[in-house]
Amino acid sequence: MSQPRLRTVVVLAAGEGKRMKSAIPKVLHPILGRTLLGHVLAAAAPLAADRTLVVVGHGADQVTDHLAGVAAGAEPVLQAEQHGTGHAVRIALDSTPDAAGTVVVLNGDVPLLRPETVTALVAAHEAAGAAATVLAAEVADPTGLGRIVRSENGGLEQIVEERDASAAQRAIREINAGIYAFDAALLRDALGKLSTDNDQGEEYLTDVFGLLVATGETVAVHVAPDATETLGCNDRVELAALRRLLRDRINEGWMRTGVTLLDPATTWIDVTVALDRDAVVDQNTQLRGATTVGSGATVGPDTTLIDTTVAAGATVLRAHSVGAVIGAGASVGPYAYLRPEAKLRDRAKVGTFVEVKKSEIGEGAKVPHLSYVGDATIGAQANIGAATIFVNYDGVHKHHTTIGEAAFVGCDTNLVAPVEVGAGAYIAAGSAITSDVPPGALGVTRAEQRNVEGWVARRRPGTKSAAAAERAGPKAAGASEGEAIHGAPDAGGRGPAPGDTATE
Ligand code: UD1
Ligand code: MG
Repeated sequence: MSQPRLRTVVVLAAGEGKRMKSAIPKVLHPILGRTLLGHVLAAAAPLAADRTLVVVGHGADQVTDHLAGVAAGAEPVLQAEQHGTGHAVRIALDSTPDAAGTVVVLNGDVPLLRPETVTALVAAHEAAGAAATVLAAEVADPTGLGRIVRSENGGLEQIVEERDASAAQRAIREINAGIYAFDAALLRDALGKLSTDNDQGEEYLTDVFGLLVATGETVAVHVAPDATETLGCNDRVELAALRRLLRDRINEGWMRTGVTLLDPATTWIDVTVALDRDAVVDQNTQLRGATTVGSGATVGPDTTLIDTTVAAGATVLRAHSVGAVIGAGASVGPYAYLRPEAKLRDRAKVGTFVEVKKSEIGEGAKVPHLSYVGDATIGAQANIGAATIFVNYDGVHKHHTTIGEAAFVGCDTNLVAPVEVGAGAYIAAGSAITSDVPPGALGVTRAEQRNVEGWVARRRPGTKSAAAAERAGPKAAGASEGEAIHGAPDAGGRGPAPGDTATE
């Protein structure tokens, strides 16, 4: 025989969320790093429940897949037809015949709930030996929510849904947050007695309270310290409002730990992000996923970092980064794009209009302007000139480029991978490098320059270029094609020649 369960968590997530008007089940909509359901599961995590059951129905496959990714220990329980919150919990308990002790039930759409609040609710419930405890809050606008109806002595009498409430009950502003702790045996017994005699013809979990009161059991109300924690989400306007509230809570938390947020109203930090003291986040910045920012680093303005590590003292300005590692004192941007496995060593620089993918930029190395770096290893102190392209893809395979320490790559170079440039080597600007350059060598692949004298005057007569060339001197306007081809500019022939009217 299996051991009795001491704590079971049941999260209700089978509803459709019609008003979201979405192909995605309501509980899978994300805010600041987790889905609504993910936030609720995180709030319940410190309870260390023996079992966590998630009641799924609408979009059951999607919700089940999501659970496997975010809470491997949580078990989906299918509620094929949604006959109400009481019905949902009944199905969950039927799948757990050995549940004993405390059953904690949480609506899946209450993402602002704090772990401390759930823990305190359960502690109070267990300390009081109550049959059931509900989380309640006093709110300014209780529209649509279940009301806490108290007796004259202040104890809980029943919970009544708005659509079933009398006018006097509707005036009550103390609401049911949809978070509860129950004694398992008493809950199981009461669920068997629920009726569907209400406006929606559903089995209401909330009716368990009235049933327990009627049989003389102790029921309790635990008031949430902050009413915003109890806010649910029914449509996308409410979703946006919850996102703002959570943003403010997260931002306040970071500022209190010593992080500077220059404009908290435009700074969006996922709950999964970690910031060190004296990090500075400038305006219009989003920090998402597993991003971390070290002490003294400055991030933003206008920056999005996803799963990105920023070490101490680095600067990231107007950048978009996914899955990159930015070393201490490194500098990124403005207008840089770092892609997965971009790794900048300490004091490396990735400058303006530079994209880096799956490449290591060595300590103190620089890629300052207009470049694509893909599948490369760049040695320490190397300098990559403007408009250098790491040609990593032959249409079928990706290939690697290695640049040695302190190598100097001239502007507008194509490095056709696989290729290696040795330590201290130079590449002449405009080269297409297709074979290795030994250490200390100069690699150059440019064709020699030739100038066709007088070409503009002959082939583009009457244009502004022709006029300008004519004003500039006799050579531009005069010489014949045959004699005017030179391997290099002829500086001696550039003197002004006023009055020369060339070909016209
Ligand atoms: C419920 C409460 C109400 C409370 C409010 C707080 C009941 C009867 N009423 O109302 O007192 O103020 O939450 O937000 O419980 N669900 C299922 N299966 C079902 C029905 C619902 O899993 O058959 C899930 C939903 O997906 C949702 C949660 O239960 O996550 C709450 O359901 P919802 O329909 O939103 O209940 P409310 O009408 O908001
Ligand atoms: Mg609801």
